[in-house]
Amino acid sequence: MISQQEYAQRRKNVRQQIGDNAIAIIPAAAQVLRNGDTPYVYRQSSNFYYLTGFNEPDAVLVLLPHHHDGEYILFAREADPAKEIWDGKMQGLKGLIDNFNADLAYDINTFEDVLPRLLENRNKVYFPIGQNADFDQLIFNGVNQLRGKARHGISAADEFCNIDPILSEMRVYKSEAEIAVMQKAANISVEAHQRAMQACTAGMYEYQLEAEIQYVFYKHGSRSVAYSPIIGAGKNACILHYKENNQKIKDGELVLIDAGCEYENYSSDITRTFPVNGKFSEEQAAIYNLVLKAQQAAIELVKPGTKWFELQTKIMEILTAGLVELGLLKGDVNQLIANKAATQFYMHLSGHWLGLDTHDTGNYKINNEWRELEPGMVLTIEPGLYIQANQADVDPKWWNIGVRIEDDIAVTKDGHQVLTQALPKTITEIEALMSDKLQ
Ligand code: GLY
Ligand code: MN
Ligand code: MN
Repeated sequence: MISQQEYAQRRKNVRQQIGDNAIAIIPAAAQVLRNGDTPYVYRQSSNFYYLTGFNEPDAVLVLLPHHHDGEYILFAREADPAKEIWDGKMQGLKGLIDNFNADLAYDINTFEDVLPRLLENRNKVYFPIGQNADFDQLIFNGVNQLRGKARHGISAADEFCNIDPILSEMRVYKSEAEIAVMQKAANISVEAHQRAMQACTAGMYEYQLEAEIQYVFYKHGSRSVAYSPIIGAGKNACILHYKENNQKIKDGELVLIDAGCEYENYSSDITRTFPVNGKFSEEQAAIYNLVLKAQQAAIELVKPGTKWFELQTKIMEILTAGLVELGLLKGDVNQLIANKAATQFYMHLSGHWLGLDTHDTGNYKINNEWRELEPGMVLTIEPGLYIQANQADVDPKWWNIGVRIEDDIAVTKDGHQVLTQALPKTITEIEALMSDKLQ
């Protein structure tokens, strides 16, 4: 749970960054309807949520450093008892003040009319430029209404700035409270993956494993997945963003599950790969242990001062050397690394920032240099190897083996904390867990 004090601190930080004569205007996400009728599950805009903790649509946040009316203004829906009968409780304007500590609260229907007054004498307008043409136009209209009022001593902004880079960088550094929420999300996903491993038997369909995963998510109060779960058995484990999840799982195959829940709007993101029948074959074990070795070596490097790309380099080195040892690549290891030869079987980078979004905000380079890890950052590390069938230069014994292993890691002052540590990962641990079948 993120406290109201923490949200207030974030807003203060934004006000300081934009400067005294600026205004920041950040809209909530719209409620999307399926074919114009039934509402999809609502998901707040991550930036809006980051600064308010407010989870309703039809809202706008305005930050106005040192404004005489108030520095923190929220526009939202006025509570309407007739509407609440259909759609449930709304915070209403009183709730914005009492529960979300707004200095001022307005009905969202008045936004267009009130906006020009808030824009008066502000020289810069920060907002998410270019993301919604209607919203852009609303802001420009507001500013244009002030032009020509110079003789009344009212000036209009002459600079429009994107608010996203400021929020994007703030969100890179997680507070203790955020890490605690992310740990909870990770714990739920760990239990879900365990359950899927214990439930797996040949003859099931991929979506039945997905059901086991979703059951645990919902049981613990996660109301949404952080991203579409990938449940790929056999050759489907080699499709990086497989999403059909509708094939029968066969004895002798590997299953790759990449699934994470969202909890209080924070993501978890875990991948595990395991044998359907509970026992890795020799070839499956060889590929699995190679991916595991690369992942563990990269995790060991996670500490303040390590550059993000060093993790990528380490993974590429270990995978390439291992592929040569297994006979899947031929030639001089250093030359193969230089030529990126392993990308025949390893086509993606291994990780991303994790937070309110699964691929969270934040730069990976600063001033054109790979960024150094710092305490409070949270990232995934997720190497994989995917050996598609029918590759002429690949012995058929390797075909259709797809392995990815992914954990969520917080950078601490002295090193790191693996938020998903509790989930079995070595072959011994996985085989032991799978021998204890779900009843
Ligand atoms: N499942 C999305 C990712 O691992 O990045
Ligand atoms: Mn990931
Ligand atoms: Mn993932």
